Amino acid sequence: MRLTDNSLVLGIETSCDETAAAVVRGGHEIVSNVVASQVEIHAHFGGVVPEVASRRHAEQITLVVEQAMSEADADWGDLSLIAVTRGPGLVGSLLVGVSAAKGYSLATGLPLVGINHIAGHITSSFLLSAEGREPAPREFPSLALVASGGHSDLALIAGMGRYRLVGFTRDDAAGEALDKAARLLGLGYPGGPAIERAARDGDPKAVDLPRPDTKDGFEFSFAGLKTALVRVVEDGVEHPVTDLAASFQQAVVDCLVRETLEAARHFNAWQILVAGGVAANSVLRNDMRAAAEGAGLSAYFPPMSLCTDNAAMVAAAGHFQAALSGADDLSMEADSALQLPAD
Ligand code: KG4
Ligand code: ZN
Repeated sequence: MRLTDNSLVLGIETSCDETAAAVVRGGHEIVSNVVASQVEIHAHFGGVVPEVASRRHAEQITLVVEQAMSEADADWGDLSLIAVTRGPGLVGSLLVGVSAAKGYSLATGLPLVGINHIAGHITSSFLLSAEGREPAPREFPSLALVASGGHSDLALIAGMGRYRLVGFTRDDAAGEALDKAARLLGLGYPGGPAIERAARDGDPKAVDLPRPDTKDGFEFSFAGLKTALVRVVEDGVEHPVTDLAASFQQAVVDCLVRETLEAARHFNAWQILVAGGVAANSVLRNDMRAAAEGAGLSAYFPPMSLCTDNAAMVAAAGHFQAALSGADDLSMEADSALQLPAD
């Protein structure tokens, strides 16, 4: 379908524990970006409770969409497209967003497109942020690492909207590993930021932890690293929690940097784009930048507000997907196990 630099797209995101809606112009300029986080609700349980998440999405979705439209000063008639995350994610949560998007599409006659959440995270690098920070240059191929609570994926980007999965995790995602380690160390939820805070006062070399390498393409594996931490804690040797946090964080970062650089070299990428909640981590930012520089590449990290789940990235991904392959019809469905195409 034809979309221009002025086309407005409404994005809707409910795949996990953020209810989000945003309006994006031309696939890159954020006009409004509303995120209602449930993190405090789930913190009581030490993790996201799917049933609680979908109920909260159902309560919030209309309010969040209305707020995004009003902050954008947009009427339905000003929009060209509605984009919604259809997977991967929690199925009950995804269903709330997809059903709402279908309802808005039916009521307004606007075309609808279902988006892969990972494609959304990748597209966040190409957004002009509210802070006015320049997006990543549109140079291809680019290599993207999406590291979050649910995924550790490497994707090759051939052009806007053209992604191919080239690496993934065999077991835990990087964020999941950090969340589990934080729980083990009694640091609370969400684990990534808690580990990062504790690690600031710790020595990353204090505790000897493995850097699991599958030697199989560009695959990650974090389950063994978590088991190694459990063993260290149970061994009875007293380590300050700050050292344990710093050592574990460094091991996760080392694995992420190693596979990403290997893939970037293998595919002759122009640049490395890092997205997803774990991209908020300052050690990952520093080490990835340094490693990329060493390989003659640049590493781009979206601003913090665009690293974690949001709907601006979904609206932007929707813009490029619809321009390339058209809109979906109302038979489009939520798919909790949706993957990026592998070829
Ligand atoms: O992308 P995201 O908001 O949601 C998912 O799609 O999963 O990512 C959430 C994940 C959580 O595992 C959280 O612990 C991690 O990102 N995270 C961090 C940091 N902030 C969030 N990990 C490391 N350092 C951080 N500063
Ligand atoms: Zn995410």
